[in-house]
Amino acid sequence: MGTCTGLRYFELLSEFYMAYRPTDEERTDRELDFILARGVGDWSPRTRLVADVMSGPGRHALALGRRGWSVDAIDMDASLLGRLSRAADDLGVAVRTIKANVDTDSLQGSYEMVLCLGTSFGINAGRADAFRLIERMRDIMAPAALLCTEIFCAEARYAGVTQLDKVRAWPAGGSVSKRLVWDARAEVEHVLATITGAGRRDRACYRQFVPRRDTMSALLRDAGLSEVRRYAGQDGWPTGDAALWTARAPD
Ligand SMILES: C[S@@+](CC[C@H](N)C(=O)[O-])C[C@H]1O[C@@H](n2cnc3c(N)ncnc32)[C@H](O)[C@@H]1O
Repeated sequence: MGTCTGLRYFELLSEFYMAYRPTDEERTDRELDFILARGVGDWSPRTRLVADVMSGPGRHALALGRRGWSVDAIDMDASLLGRLSRAADDLGVAVRTIKANVDTDSLQGSYEMVLCLGTSFGINAGRADAFRLIERMRDIMAPAALLCTEIFCAEARYAGVTQLDKVRAWPAGGSVSKRLVWDARAEVEHVLATITGAGRRDRACYRQFVPRRDTMSALLRDAGLSEVRRYAGQDGWPTGDAALWTARAPD
């Protein structure tokens, strides 16, 4: 795997991000309805302060802003954050953008809810990095705050296989093709990507933590979080090969 750091993949993809992952507002609303109904339960949010960690262009940040939450959207990509700021201004919603690398920068604040959705948690991580990110997110959770994180799960993604090939093309003539090779022992997939667009063809790679169910559960508990619940397809969470994990900070 050489010196693959993963950062170059996101740098390269940034300019094509909205073609690669067009915002699906209806789906985003379904995800938030699901989280607020099942994750929060009978808890009534008071401060309505939420951190959207690895927000990208902020589909959850904007949708929560529309629902009256004050959102801090954290991402390392300045151009995606710029797009998000402009969209928030146009909508008149309370979204602040924070440029940070969540692998290396400590996070500040005290939030009633911390989200890391869209299978961002685990990007460029192994077990130890994933644990450090859980700790960073725990450190910005107010007492009894809710953490919601979506992550690919090994059982669903790698049932009986060790390698997956995926291609996504978009109408303007670009594409991302990925070869995913799973290291079952380390619970890490190595993602070898070719990004084509704007007359260029670039190769990039990153790794992604794809834990087994008991690994993820243990990491959340080891970080001192409780009430860990996992929702997957059959429980209504919309992504086929990923699950939503929810956990609470201590009171
Ligand atoms: C899958 S996308 C965002 C998904 C978004 N949460 C959603 O649900 O639509 C992953 C995002 O993570 C950001 N990212 C990747 N590594 C990061 C890091 N180390 N620190 C901060 N942001 C990072 C990328 O810039 C990208 O915007």
